[in-house]
Amino acid sequence: MDIDTLKLRAAERALDYVEPGMKLGLGTGSTAVKFVDLIGARVARGLDVLCVPTSIATRAQAEGLNIPLATLEEQPTLDLTIDGADECDESLRLIKGGGGAHLREKIVAASSTRMVVVADDSKRVAKLGVFPLPVEIVPFGWRTTLARVDEAVRMNGCKGPVTVRGSEDDPFVTDNGNYILDCAFGEIDDPGQVASQLSLLPGVVEHGLFIGMTHAAIIAGANGIELIGEAP
Ligand code: A5P
Repeated sequence: MDIDTLKLRAAERALDYVEPGMKLGLGTGSTAVKFVDLIGARVARGLDVLCVPTSIATRAQAEGLNIPLATLEEQPTLDLTIDGADECDESLRLIKGGGGAHLREKIVAASSTRMVVVADDSKRVAKLGVFPLPVEIVPFGWRTTLARVDEAVRMNGCKGPVTVRGSEDDPFVTDNGNYILDCAFGEIDDPGQVASQLSLLPGVVEHGLFIGMTHAAIIAGANGIELIGEAP
């Protein structure tokens, strides 16, 4: 089974968590795209949901599917968020932000009663850190912020470089007008400590570690779907 089909299988299973009348957070990325398509098809058949997208791209997709949308200002609490992940460990700790959307994704997930991850089994890891950890930073003084982030992650065992996403002359810009640093850890021994230390640094807006936020992960592999965490 190709990876695209696995992503679709995970997204299909996530529909089991959706009930009429729910307020939903819609994630970002290639797996979340499939879930949004499925919600769009259900809405076309009469499903009543109100959704908050986690990125400009997801908002555009959902608008194209006529999914009823709100902002978090209009709908500050949500029942359920369905989102992808770049890595997921057995304790449902995640690395997110491969698409640069983790700031809004984290705000939306934190506003939800439950967050469910949809992923193919390439995302499942014993230890987080092979996928470089994204850290969103403000553009002002970004080189000094990079140096502070580099020092903090190095003290926490980061083996590879910390680089600005895009290029130094033309950095990638997030939906929030910020830059992303990618920290090539290799492996993260203590994700909780890395998360707290990064959060304290001036210039850092949000890192891509999601700890204690995920209630279930639907992992699709060649041999079927595995559910980690809470059932629907
Ligand atoms: C977006 O910034 C990310 O957090 C995505 O949720 C994550 O990268 C998963 O994306 P894919 O489903 O495309 O792998």
